[in-house]
Amino acid sequence: MKLINKKNKNYTQIFQLFTEEAWEKAKKKHHKNIATLFSGKKYEVFIQTDEDSIIYMIGLGKSTLQNFEIQQVAVKFSQTQKDKLQTAPTLILADFLNEKQFEEFIKGLLLGTYTYPFDRKHAFWNPQFEIHFENLSQKKLDAVLSKAEALANGQTACQEWLNKPANLKKPDILSSYLKNLAKKYDFKYTVFNRKKCEELGLGAYLSVNQGSAYDAAFTIIEYKTSVKNAKTFGLVGKCVLFDTGGISLKDHTNMHYMKSDMGGATAVIGTLIYAAEMKVPVNIIAVLPITDNAISEKAFLPSDVITAYNGKTIEVLNTDAEGRMILADGLSYLAKNYKTDFLIDLATLTGSSVRMFGDTCGAMFSNNEELKNRLIKTGDQTNQRVWNLPLWDIWKDDIQSDVADLKNISMKPIGDCIIAAKFLEQFTENHPKWAHLDIAGVAFGSTGYAKEKAATGYGVQLLADLIENYQ
Ligand code: BES
Ligand code: MG
Ligand code: ZN
Repeated sequence: MKLINKKNKNYTQIFQLFTEEAWEKAKKKHHKNIATLFSGKKYEVFIQTDEDSIIYMIGLGKSTLQNFEIQQVAVKFSQTQKDKLQTAPTLILADFLNEKQFEEFIKGLLLGTYTYPFDRKHAFWNPQFEIHFENLSQKKLDAVLSKAEALANGQTACQEWLNKPANLKKPDILSSYLKNLAKKYDFKYTVFNRKKCEELGLGAYLSVNQGSAYDAAFTIIEYKTSVKNAKTFGLVGKCVLFDTGGISLKDHTNMHYMKSDMGGATAVIGTLIYAAEMKVPVNIIAVLPITDNAISEKAFLPSDVITAYNGKTIEVLNTDAEGRMILADGLSYLAKNYKTDFLIDLATLTGSSVRMFGDTCGAMFSNNEELKNRLIKTGDQTNQRVWNLPLWDIWKDDIQSDVADLKNISMKPIGDCIIAAKFLEQFTENHPKWAHLDIAGVAFGSTGYAKEKAATGYGVQLLADLIENYQ
């Protein structure tokens, strides 16, 4: 796609955007013949043709709509009209849109091209596809396009990896992708295999990996800005490539969904891509503890007591609570070895958070008011919402063990997402600005591009907006 500030005399393809209010006015003046056929409601598309051109009239809904809703409309338009769209100079008529709103529209057009497997065959990825828009300067249009493309590249990479079936995302396949990504974007890339992890004492991570047929890959990716005094974000993404539950085996009914247990990691990967392409003036240290949670004769057992990286001992009472084990070492490794301004982990961590919030928001836990409020605000703006839950010390009583410093589950059938967060807090090494996002309900679910549950891309826009606006 190209964005160009111009307007020719004739177009074979026009996208004309209307809010309900804008349509009310326009229909009386220019469109009496179709006044009752279109109303401007959100997602409505009416195709008008004459000898020379096809006009896609696109409804945005009420003029009070939020910016992310423009993106939603564009996503759906892109998804549903893709077979009809031509690679031809296309005029966009929407003089009431400001720059930010236009940006959301373009982002949506690109994000809506995603299907699995991603092939970029959609007309919008064709360099010959020109969008002509008169209401913003060429400079602004250039900025809009680079931002939209960076986001689309980040979010679709996130979706693609999450959607891959388990046999196509074994640790070595993901590792070679990450290695290439590091080369492409000039990230510093470090990976610890099982032997190295043993030397380092990453015992909580290794307890999960020991049952795997694949070597450990505790991965660290660093993005550095050249801007001085920039903030540093430590990001930890749960990267369980498939979660069988281990010896505490999951029920078979929905087990195939557990290919999505790397949703925290894919959100981080998408954010790294965005940051690199946009040269966002922050530093990012990303830790991705990569493994599967397999059932095998070497797998860890309920009752095992293991020693985590920070020296705390953990009694494993349920091997299906593996996410908190690998995140424990991810968090304390990052906190002990790097100086970061913010420490944020993202994880498809608990069924409890799914039962609580469904696909409406992620469950957030944080020890810092400022970070908490920023995440809530960014979540509201991007529609990748989070809701704050407590980290009160009374919850810590439930993870006290008789044989270790902590146990990995509480025996009570309540509030496991809070329990898990409280568990993770013990591995943040008192980092003053930590947030944990349990995204089990939002990373993988219903989408406009797949019949079954699929990757939503949750987390990329949330983190991209957060780092971009955190000066
Ligand atoms: N990966 C799951 C959490 C999950 C559930 C993600 C549903 C996406 C959708 C996690 O490892 C897990 O198995 N959690 C257990 C913890 C329990 C054993 C305390 C759970 O939530 O059932
Ligand atoms: Mg599990
Ligand atoms: Zn899991």
